[in-house]
Amino acid sequence: MAENVKVAVRVRPFNKREKARNATLIVQMSGATTKLIDPEAPNDEPKSFTFDYSYWSHDGFAEDETGYLGAVAPNYADQRKVYNDVGQSVLNNAWDGYNSTLFAYGQTGSGKSWSIVGYGANKGIVPIFCDEMFKGIQKKKDEGDTGQYEVMFSMLEIYNEQVRDLLNPASNKKGGLKIRQHPKKGFYAEGLKTVPVSSYKQIEDKMEEGTLNRTVAATNMNATSSRAHTIVGVTFVQKNKNAAGEETAKTSLINLVDLAGSERADSTGATGDRLKEGAAINQSLSALGNVISALVDKANGQNVRVPYRGDSALTRLLKNALAGNSKTAMIAAISPADINYDETLSTLRYADRAKQIKTTATVNEDPTEKLIRDLQEQNAKLLEKLKAAESGQVIRIDDDDDDNDDDGKMSDEEMAALRKQIEEDIRASMADTEKAVADMNKTWEEKLAETDQASTDKEAQKKERMETPHFWNLNPDSQLTGMIVHLLKKDKVKIGNKKADPPADIQLAGLNVQKEHCEVTIAGDKITITPIGDAKLLINGEPITEEEELEHHDRVMFGSSHLYVFHHPKQADKSTIKAESINYEMAQEEIAQNSGFDMEEGSNKDAMLLQEDLVDLVPMVEEANAISMELDRKVSFEVVVMTAKARGLSEGKSEPYVLMRNLENGLEWLWPKKKFINRKYLMQEMYSNYEEGEDWALPDERDPFTESPDVDFMIGCVEVSMESLGYVLDMREQLNITDFRGKEVGYLNVEVVPLDSKGKEITEDTDLFIDNPRDLIGEKLDFVVRITSARGLPKKYTDVYCSYKLFLDEDPKTEKVSGTSNPDFNYERKFHFDPVNEQFVDYLMKKSVVIQLWGKQIPDKKPLNKAAKEGKDTKAIMKAENMNKGMAKGSKNVPALMNISDHVTMKRRKERLELKINQIRKICDRREEEGHIAVKIADIRAIIGDSNANTPTSNARSGATQPQERRNESSACAIL
Ligand SMILES: Nc1ncnc2c1ncn2[C@@H]1O[C@H](COP(=O)(O)OP(=O)(O)OP(=O)(O)O)[C@@H](O)[C@H]1O
Ligand SMILES: [Mg+2]
Repeated sequence: MAENVKVAVRVRPFNKREKARNATLIVQMSGATTKLIDPEAPNDEPKSFTFDYSYWSHDGFAEDETGYLGAVAPNYADQRKVYNDVGQSVLNNAWDGYNSTLFAYGQTGSGKSWSIVGYGANKGIVPIFCDEMFKGIQKKKDEGDTGQYEVMFSMLEIYNEQVRDLLNPASNKKGGLKIRQHPKKGFYAEGLKTVPVSSYKQIEDKMEEGTLNRTVAATNMNATSSRAHTIVGVTFVQKNKNAAGEETAKTSLINLVDLAGSERADSTGATGDRLKEGAAINQSLSALGNVISALVDKANGQNVRVPYRGDSALTRLLKNALAGNSKTAMIAAISPADINYDETLSTLRYADRAKQIKTTATVNEDPTEKLIRDLQEQNAKLLEKLKAAESGQVIRIDDDDDDNDDDGKMSDEEMAALRKQIEEDIRASMADTEKAVADMNKTWEEKLAETDQASTDKEAQKKERMETPHFWNLNPDSQLTGMIVHLLKKDKVKIGNKKADPPADIQLAGLNVQKEHCEVTIAGDKITITPIGDAKLLINGEPITEEEELEHHDRVMFGSSHLYVFHHPKQADKSTIKAESINYEMAQEEIAQNSGFDMEEGSNKDAMLLQEDLVDLVPMVEEANAISMELDRKVSFEVVVMTAKARGLSEGKSEPYVLMRNLENGLEWLWPKKKFINRKYLMQEMYSNYEEGEDWALPDERDPFTESPDVDFMIGCVEVSMESLGYVLDMREQLNITDFRGKEVGYLNVEVVPLDSKGKEITEDTDLFIDNPRDLIGEKLDFVVRITSARGLPKKYTDVYCSYKLFLDEDPKTEKVSGTSNPDFNYERKFHFDPVNEQFVDYLMKKSVVIQLWGKQIPDKKPLNKAAKEGKDTKAIMKAENMNKGMAKGSKNVPALMNISDHVTMKRRKERLELKINQIRKICDRREEEGHIAVKIADIRAIIGDSNANTPTSNARSGATQPQERRNESSACAIL
């Protein structure tokens, strides 16, 4: 019977960062309902969603002596509660012979791993499930059950569309494991190691082994593990005799899936980059989204095609879980904090869709004899298909495979490729079936004996760790933190890469690690570290160049991806810094701070998000530079912060960009964060090809290090205040052009001049002036914008033009001017507003127009520095550049756009007001001379040109917001 996917939502506590920043709680739960408050509209009705379960794990708990978080409030859902609801039913299904899948979805850091795997004493569903399964088996045996119970364990990771066997890292050749399609099993990873396990302890060891392999792979490649999906597979077989005395096997395959952080899902395609192929960053999550959507449509009776096969390894491996023979549940993990509102809403929507999917599970139970017979028959059929395929007939591997519907629309080439794939699948399926038959004929004892069942003595290991100085790793994924430990067991420990001869005591792979990188010396209680040559070594974020003493809990960065914490056993007891307070973010913040970025606690959401982006980007840029050096690509990368103004917007938040610079010809390109990340993945791929000795060079059009010199580069911008127009004043100024680094790069001559009803310019001498810009509302306003010329631009640009945006207008542009650094644009454009509305007056008074100057860069023939002149490699050129810049400081270049025109308007207003005061003074003097003691109000009004309380001292902004009691009939209005 078809059954809906069960969906649970779980909200975690605030993390340290959210607490430090006084985050607001925006999630509410009652019963199975989850409500989400929009922090931008806190008084609106919260968005409400109902699931099978809503788990409140935000507060209402206390930590016991073992570290377990238990409930102190009745609504708190602890690990056991979640297991009892969700995990237990998976186990029950397994006993009944159903396949089950449980997957965790949610943004990075939302608590997916917490629920699925757990941390320390807070064991998640996987360990409790395994533990309970073995307890159940034991109980049966204790009750005299004579059945045979077999448990097999596997663990794989999908990273960047490659399937890696976490229990057999040696098998992970380039490209990872192949995904094959089997007529019965559906999609599976070919050659995945599945180890027989006979106790919970063995599963625990295997999981640790898999996690360690994940950590090593992630660290060496500096890969972000939160972009990887992990699938733990448990196969549970129960063999018993049936009434007829035949041996039967009840089989259940349980997949426990910890998905990659969901916020990466949108990074595909939306990078604005021409290099799309590499955007597979998390293609699989978007593909999963598409499959879920299609399945929901299908469940609602629509006839749609479900794109399993697509480009995604994940959807193929999860096909059964989503539509086939499986009982499926999903845990959607969410953050409680306001800054994650968008992500949380999208997770809840995803979960809401998933709950509509239906799957149909059947009990997998058959007599062993029959199973073997079926398998053999199946192979015979496959053999026929293979023969048919080889003789050129159309074949398909699975009759209900939706993707085969595409046959008719395929090109010959695609058909040929599909045919080849199917043939390969058939061969692999046949081999798989043969192995399954052979396995069935083996006894469980034989199978167990085939794998290494040695298990580790954890207590002894822990003791040794505490007593020996060592480094333990930091990883952005807290699950992978502390997994790698390098014990320092000698007085002198050499650290380097695998090429070192004699071999290094601690081998680190990856970027920027030298053959002989550094040496640790232990002399009694004093432990020091010395970099060798110009090896990159940071301690607590600071680069070191000579011997330095290591203290307990120092953060040490070797090269550009190996981040470790030092453990000094003699100082451990006295240490004031707690291990828990050290994490990856903190260490990266330290590094970012030392490279010149301000990491003060941000007070608002935008500042917080910017800081988080910087903490993400700084190590990636570092890595891109390291790859460029290693592959001698002659480009360098740098993080720059661009204000909204520098991006041509009159308001908005600052955003991080990455500047790529060609070290041979000085050309520069600014990439938005997403585009850079996309490129960095391609660079990483290029580097891994290089490391594996493969052909790594790519043609220009696919090379992540190249960019066309023809793209326009923003030379700089000026901000033009429109305030003068609000007072019907002209503005003719020479304004400083500021580049994205905040450097002045020339002047722009700009005029904004109001026009009278005849189209004649209103100038300074025309004494038409209003005191309150709101008087313009309802009237007509004409004006002209002129961009006459720029002066003193850097010589490296040609084809220069300006673009700007004024109010709701499209993007007007000047003509392009080439071959001069003093271009005359002679641009003029008239604007006509009739009638002026309130919105436009607000715009004039509060916003400004940003004029951007764009140009094409001319390659510089002069070498960048001495090293470049001498034809040295990227590393030497970059080093020389950094020396020039005064040590590798990152650029914290928030452009300081001077609002010159604001001052001009104010000055002008002041002059005019002084003029009026003088006129009043003159009237007073004259009246006094004439022997009067009073002045006619009407005379004064005529001078100030206003009838209400606008005093000459009120400033432009407050003046603009003061209430108007009577329509103004000042002389200035007459011109409109
Ligand atoms: N229910 C919870 N109770 C207490 N702490 C939690 C809970 N859920 C998550 N955390 C903490 O929040 C942090 C992030 O959780 P977790 O590692 O599970 O996130 P994730 O969703 O797996 O992230 P990623 O996508 O990076 O793998 C961890 O330090 C974890 O200890
Ligand atoms: Mg995780």
